[in-house]
Amino acid sequence: MRRRYAASSLLPLLLTLLVIPLSFGQSNDKRTLGSSEPIRGVNLGGWLVTEQWITPSIYDSTSAADEWHLCNELGKEKCLSTLNDHWNSFYTRSDLADMRTAGLNAVRIPLGYWAVDVQDYEPYVSGQYPYLIRAVQWAGELGLSVVIDLHGAPGSQNGQDNSGLIGPVLFTGNTTNSDRSLGVLRNLTEEFSQAMYNDTVIGIELLNEPRLNSGSFTMVDLQAFYSNGASTVHNATTSNAPNVTIHDAFWGPQYWKNYYPTDSAASQPANGLSIDTHQYYAFAPLNNLSHAEILDSVCNISQLLKQPSSGIPSTMVGEWSLETGAPPTARSSSQDGSDDQARRTWFRLLAEAQMVAYTPNGPNQSSIGWFFWAWKTEYDIDTWSYRRGLSDGWIPSDASNTSTYAFPVLRDGCVDTTYNYTAPLVAGSGIGGRQAASWVLLGSLLGLSTYLIW
Ligand SMILES: *[C@@H]1O[C@H](CO)[C@@H](O)[C@H](O)[C@H]1NC(C)=O
Ligand SMILES: *[C@@H]1O[C@H](CO)[C@@H](O)[C@H](O)[C@H]1NC(C)=O
Ligand SMILES: *[C@@H]1O[C@H](CO)[C@@H](O)[C@H](O)[C@H]1NC(C)=O
Ligand SMILES: *[C@@H]1O[C@H](CO)[C@@H](O)[C@H](O)[C@H]1NC(C)=O
Ligand SMILES: *[C@@H]1O[C@H](CO)[C@@H](O)[C@H](O)[C@H]1NC(C)=O
Ligand SMILES: *[C@@H]1O[C@H](CO)[C@@H](O)[C@H](O)[C@H]1NC(C)=O
Ligand SMILES: *[C@@H]1O[C@H](CO)[C@@H](O)[C@H](O)[C@H]1NC(C)=O
Ligand SMILES: *[C@@H]1O[C@H](CO)[C@@H](O)[C@H](O)[C@H]1NC(C)=O
Ligand SMILES: *[C@@H]1O[C@H](CO)[C@@H](O)[C@H](O)[C@H]1NC(C)=O
Ligand SMILES: *[C@@H]1O[C@H](CO)[C@@H](O)[C@H](O)[C@H]1NC(C)=O
Repeated sequence: MRRRYAASSLLPLLLTLLVIPLSFGQSNDKRTLGSSEPIRGVNLGGWLVTEQWITPSIYDSTSAADEWHLCNELGKEKCLSTLNDHWNSFYTRSDLADMRTAGLNAVRIPLGYWAVDVQDYEPYVSGQYPYLIRAVQWAGELGLSVVIDLHGAPGSQNGQDNSGLIGPVLFTGNTTNSDRSLGVLRNLTEEFSQAMYNDTVIGIELLNEPRLNSGSFTMVDLQAFYSNGASTVHNATTSNAPNVTIHDAFWGPQYWKNYYPTDSAASQPANGLSIDTHQYYAFAPLNNLSHAEILDSVCNISQLLKQPSSGIPSTMVGEWSLETGAPPTARSSSQDGSDDQARRTWFRLLAEAQMVAYTPNGPNQSSIGWFFWAWKTEYDIDTWSYRRGLSDGWIPSDASNTSTYAFPVLRDGCVDTTYNYTAPLVAGSGIGGRQAASWVLLGSLLGLSTYLIW
């Protein structure tokens, strides 16, 4: 949409000057993404590992709540045809092109072990791999880097739907499970470190969201797996290995200070190791915070990860969203708030506070960037769909260009939550950013209604 104003004002310029630049150098070398250029990415959630709440239509004809039971109910043949259609259509090249247009530079791709290694007794079907390869090729062509994440391990590492199988955590119940997982990690490293992929894959994440307990899955067990996993990835290639990324197991990045998976006596983190931490306000115990407390907590994490040379390894916030208060359900689409101006104003603040918090703003920081969960859902739930936020106006139109952000950044690297921004009256109608806010302000100074401006 074209703006009707040709006249310019000093106001946007003055407001722009309040911002401290976020990026501290650009690089065309993909392997340095995260070190010289912040990661700004999205998850391809619910794609190669399905989740009922992300794509309810796939599950509608069944009583299943996870992919294991989905395929168990449909049978392998029907499940394969259903999922083939989904793999082929849910993410296309044009989705990745749209991400690039939105200023994103990376995607995180969750994968289940069964894409590489499925046993006859397991109901899962395999066939994801060609789609993974195709996505990595598209990403490479479009200038997006990729982190591949082992989201589901045999036995399940967290007992949740996102691992493929709801139930007890049996990952450590049988050494076969870790051996099979290492085989998958070896496969992924061998495949994507080949020269033909041009270093598009910058990280292999060993295990998503392991849920530890004091009995059968302890931190000692997890670190034994991480040691083997890191060693497996390093041994699997003689060329430039992708980084080894480890999830913090919800213990926080600070727990992993100076972590070196194959040397417990190390006094600094391993080179090429990064931490993935997930920052959600939708789940207990952080689901009952007030807006002010959420923003305070986001700023605290920002400051932790922005301390230079803290010994905390390079850290990405590999998952975050705009949901607060309650976990998602398939019916979350009814939350659509595109006509609620106050809600859209809050989303914009929460989105920018997190984008700024999870982006490094100086040298030697642990912070290396972020991945929103997710680019889309079947019904583009307000709080979980990045592209919904883009189209309805609460996500800045170009994540890499801070001039499209509405809120100024303070000296400590946190967003100025007191800045008086109000979302446009009509969802998606604004140009966004401080310039939009200042046009509204200018309009009200001139006694115009915001309708006239938009
Ligand atoms: C990885 O596994 C896939 C799926 O089974 C297979 O097609 C591919 O050849 C394997 N790649 C390597 C390098 O082993
Ligand atoms: C790698 O580079 C070659 C040559 O420029 C190109 O044809 C190919 O599409 C690229 N692949 C990826 C995954 O970037
Ligand atoms: C581990 O699980 C496999 C099936 O995945 C089974 O064949 C094997 O007997 C189990 N081993 C032990 C020690 O339980
Ligand atoms: C990786 O290679 C080293 C040196 O050859 C070896 O000691 C180690 O056991 C290997 N790691 C794995 C997981 O195979
Ligand atoms: C990869 O590791 C290097 C060296 O430790 C680090 O600077 C970089 O930020 C990491 N990137 C990712 C994507 O993990
Ligand atoms: C926390 O929030 C949930 C969801 O909104 C609500 O059901 C629950 O009662 C709240 N718990 C407390 C302790 O306030
Ligand atoms: C943020 O950190 C401050 C100072 O350490 C602490 O007092 C406050 O409780 C923290 N806020 C949240 C929400 O964690
Ligand atoms: C960053 O680290 C390098 C190498 O350790 C050091 O020379 C430099 O002074 C550090 N810069 C800051 C701002 O801490
Ligand atoms: C950044 O965004 C501003 C505001 O929309 C725009 O004027 C400027 O051209 C953009 N810069 C780049 C490099 O895209
Ligand atoms: C915020 O700006 C709006 C105009 O956009 C104005 O009506 C409102 O009074 C301002 N609120 C505060 C607290 O300054």
